[in-house]
Amino acid sequence: MLHKSLLKNKKIQEENLRHIAIIMDGNGRWSERKGKIRTLGHKEGFKTAKKIVKFAVKRNIKILTLYAFSKENWKRPKIEIMGLMELFFFALKNEINNLNKYNIRLKIIGEKSFFNKKLQNYIYKAEKKTLKNSGLILNIAANYSGRWDIIQATKRIIQAVQKGILDIKKIQEQNFSQYLSTSELSPVDLVIRTGGEKRISNFLLWQIAYSELYFTDILWPDFNQSTFQEAIDYFFTRERRFGRIKK
Ligand code: FPP
Repeated sequence: MLHKSLLKNKKIQEENLRHIAIIMDGNGRWSERKGKIRTLGHKEGFKTAKKIVKFAVKRNIKILTLYAFSKENWKRPKIEIMGLMELFFFALKNEINNLNKYNIRLKIIGEKSFFNKKLQNYIYKAEKKTLKNSGLILNIAANYSGRWDIIQATKRIIQAVQKGILDIKKIQEQNFSQYLSTSELSPVDLVIRTGGEKRISNFLLWQIAYSELYFTDILWPDFNQSTFQEAIDYFFTRERRFGRIKK
């Protein structure tokens, strides 16, 4: 009996927490505190990302979106940007087997045409090689910004209207969402930001209209399975009303 109710509880939890999005902040401070270069913090941050992905699989989360590189990050020192690009290459080259082993589908959102051709090619191949995996969708936001996403959706909507495919009177929240880079993903249930700041920094905007927000001072390289679990526990203390009144 108890076993049955536990299973039911697990199912309810899985249905309510499908999509988690994370702003992985604090890599730079983590390395500076250790007297090391910022790139080392990003490398450590990558190790954390791997652990968190594994935990998300274990917890049966359906979608995990990670903010890896914002459009504004191009303003950082060249050496740091190069370190991050190398890390992306490394990840795309070496992690595909692992993704397949865990049945994870990789998806990259953002303005990919900004990256050099070789990196674009790696992204294309990695997405293709994991396309049929039916487990966790690992959605990496790279050269992404929430405002860019809304603008690119708007441009494509205008094109559809001009071509006569879409009637301007029929544009609603539902079909607008279909033009965003996250069109095939369910809305974000929980946003986690590490590193102490309490802001969204042009991450997903439209998609987090009704998300629960969780902020922690822990720097991303120090984030781990138990702190991730704390964020998940926090989510289940919230009553999501979506504009309705208390039950
Ligand atoms: C923000 O910390 C972090 C980033 C801009 C990069 C995040 C990238 C990774 C964790 C590695 C790549 C991950 C994948 C999944 C390929 P910050 O540098 O702004 O830290 P600070 O606020 O302490 O300076």
